[in-house]
Amino acid sequence: MTNNSQNIKKKISKDFIKILKNICGKKVSPLHEPFFTKEEKKSLESCINSTFVSTKSSLIKKFEKKIATYTKSKNVIAVINGTSALQICLIASGLKAKEEVFLPSFNFVAAANAAVYCGGTPHFLDIDAKTLSVDPIKFNNYLEESFIIKNKKCYNKNTKQRVRAIIIPHLFGHPAKIDNLVKIARKNNLFVIEDAAESLGSFYKKKHTGTFGDLGVLSFNGNKIITTGGGGAIISNRVSLTKKIRILVDVSKKNHNWKFDYYGVGYNMKMPGLNAALGNAQIKSIEKMVKIHRLIFRKYKTEIIKSKFFDLVREPVNSRSNYWLQNIILKDQYYAYRDYLIELSNKNGYLTRTAWTLLHNLNHFKKCPKSNLDTSANMYKRIISLPSSPSLINKK
Ligand SMILES: Cc1ncc(COP(=O)(O)O)c(C=O)c1O
Repeated sequence: MTNNSQNIKKKISKDFIKILKNICGKKVSPLHEPFFTKEEKKSLESCINSTFVSTKSSLIKKFEKKIATYTKSKNVIAVINGTSALQICLIASGLKAKEEVFLPSFNFVAAANAAVYCGGTPHFLDIDAKTLSVDPIKFNNYLEESFIIKNKKCYNKNTKQRVRAIIIPHLFGHPAKIDNLVKIARKNNLFVIEDAAESLGSFYKKKHTGTFGDLGVLSFNGNKIITTGGGGAIISNRVSLTKKIRILVDVSKKNHNWKFDYYGVGYNMKMPGLNAALGNAQIKSIEKMVKIHRLIFRKYKTEIIKSKFFDLVREPVNSRSNYWLQNIILKDQYYAYRDYLIELSNKNGYLTRTAWTLLHNLNHFKKCPKSNLDTSANMYKRIISLPSSPSLINKK
């Protein structure tokens, strides 16, 4: 290491730890903790007292209605987690074995796994640096060059396989350029699933994320902006899809009081009442949570603009982001210090991490088809996720 890079290392570390100390104080700071009030205990206790702790609980419908009202969507189906919600959406899209599903490589692994559960193949797309989701211009060009429409179906010219759907995520809570993306997908006869697992409380052009495509997915995992312990939901504005999904997430049983007959294979993925009880209490604070997360962003911003090494991932234009998880971006020339900074901050009790390993680099997805992924690679090497818990506002 040269004297110059030793010098930079010293300065960048000093700045990074100072930022974290000023936001997090001296206590150990996890990446994202849930936030509870007395309401959750009351709601859980009442669910236990009712004895309906599983999938027959009336609290599930109540939770679904609350999410539908908040997102202004016609139907919400609560399930056991966001990953199974994605799987069910792909089944509902009609995905067949070997068919391809577009999704970005810069992504949590759930969407790619869900495609594989259905016998499908993930097909990796590049992102745009501002939204960190699918880049509409690159996507459109890629479709024009490498795909063909036959009988209103989209085919990959290279693999000859049909591409059935696209899964568009709103990562870290920041809305994708969803209206453009949906337009391009429609033009190419693709089924659109929005992965809004991280973006409850995020709106694009005043419309809630997850409500633009054919189906949307939410996650209520313990690390999300509100939690049901484990849980997820499917947002659907189409009656026929909703009916199909309600059957799939159950055991596909035909409605009869005492006889057992089934429409087909069911997945038994309904959210249990206990989880819905937690959700009914949590959803009351969604706007408060968004306010707190936006405040945490502003605090980081105040600190980060004092340093020449970093920038922050910011809310894209035309949107209101829930700012669920804060991320620092190393300016291009400093990316090589990423792992050192993460190691150092973790040693100091600030639990930072890299973005997800690009999916096309994982051994089990290496052979999957992909577009050029330059922006994904560039952002991956520069991003560090920062402690973002609501408790940071009252800490120190
Ligand atoms: C973008 C994204 N998609 C899907 C999921 C899957 O959600 P779950 O953990 O509830 O299965 C997650 C969650 O962690 C996520 O971050």
